[in-house]
Amino acid sequence: MPISFASRLDQVETSAIRELFKLLGKPGIISFAGGFPDSAMFDVQGIREASEQALRQEPGAALQYGATEGYQPLREQLAQFMAQKGAPGVAPEQLIVTTGSQQALDLVGKTLIGQGDKVIVEGPTFLATIQCFRLYGADLVSAPIDGEGVQTDRLEQLIAEHRPRLVYLIPTFGNPSGATLSLERRKRVLELAVRYQTVIVEDDPYGELYFGDAPPPSLLALSAQVPGSRELLVHCGSLSKVLSPGLRVGWMIAPPELLAKATMCKQFSDAHTSTFAQATAAHYLKAGRMPATLAHVRGVYAKRAQAMGDALRERLGEAIAFVQPRGGLFIWAHLTGAGGKIADGNAFAQRAIQHGVAFVPGAPFFCAEPDRTTLRLSFATVDEHKIREGVARLALALAE
Ligand SMILES: Cc1ncc(COP(=O)(O)O)c(C=O)c1O
Repeated sequence: MPISFASRLDQVETSAIRELFKLLGKPGIISFAGGFPDSAMFDVQGIREASEQALRQEPGAALQYGATEGYQPLREQLAQFMAQKGAPGVAPEQLIVTTGSQQALDLVGKTLIGQGDKVIVEGPTFLATIQCFRLYGADLVSAPIDGEGVQTDRLEQLIAEHRPRLVYLIPTFGNPSGATLSLERRKRVLELAVRYQTVIVEDDPYGELYFGDAPPPSLLALSAQVPGSRELLVHCGSLSKVLSPGLRVGWMIAPPELLAKATMCKQFSDAHTSTFAQATAAHYLKAGRMPATLAHVRGVYAKRAQAMGDALRERLGEAIAFVQPRGGLFIWAHLTGAGGKIADGNAFAQRAIQHGVAFVPGAPFFCAEPDRTTLRLSFATVDEHKIREGVARLALALAE
């Protein structure tokens, strides 16, 4: 091919998962593979009304170019949303609206990561972050997690050893792990940030999707208790998993100098997030619809998570081990190999597809030393009946 690409692309591989997704078009496949919310749960009427209000009340602003930092009424609504989420005292000026939280992560990479810089991420972590940070030259280091999120003793050793540019964490209902960092560990993470003067990036698209009790407060909320930590903390939020990913509304809260640099970089990238989407989101939040929407999606996902957990325990028994999730969209499981059953996630995924059910093997979610026994199953987009059917197919694939 006559085109020679930038050398930075050599640092990123196309994802193994994408190959698997090509097979998902097969008719009749039950897919636990996606990372999406269920489109059947979108509050179409609420979003329609919000978009109509935006066009009726401020058509000029909603359809014109806007400020790179974001549409001011939305920044105000998002600051209030953060207060409702337990992080009061975020001024609208302390956040910028981003095109999904994915763009916030890209801006973190652009502003903070240079060639060869060490960056600590959880093992496993969000695949797109691995890819994005690598594009900026990050040398990723994997910090192990358990049922309570990242192991903070190990994290401290890794920080002391590598002196990373930043530590990237998904503390609440992680993707793919579903794990939630305990309150004690959250405080420890903030203390580590201060002791080692390390930036912590808290990615939190799932925190509102809890099924029973609310999870511990975000690192952002807790930073008020750990002097000096707020100056080292970046918080990324998103409406994608709770309202609609198609709106592409996310946000980033960061110390002023970092926010200014991120805003400059965003300007070169997309000038601003769609003003129409921002005005729609602002009206939606202002109309006070979010609490009911959250209650609805939490209820539906909770039932699906339970159905999947019960079916897996019943049908796959000791061949699979997992912690029943208390929120989010995913069950993260290990194949135990019990009874001589298959223990490789990738091989099992291939076999499962033949039986008409798909999931994502866990190995690609590790930046190093992948645990090949792992898999990620999403319960979000499939109703309970189909979940049971899909798990029955998994059991058949396992028995083969
Ligand atoms: C952990 C995590 N961060 C960020 C994102 C990006 O979401 P969005 O750009 O839609 O806000 C996702 C989406 O799957 C995710 O799982």
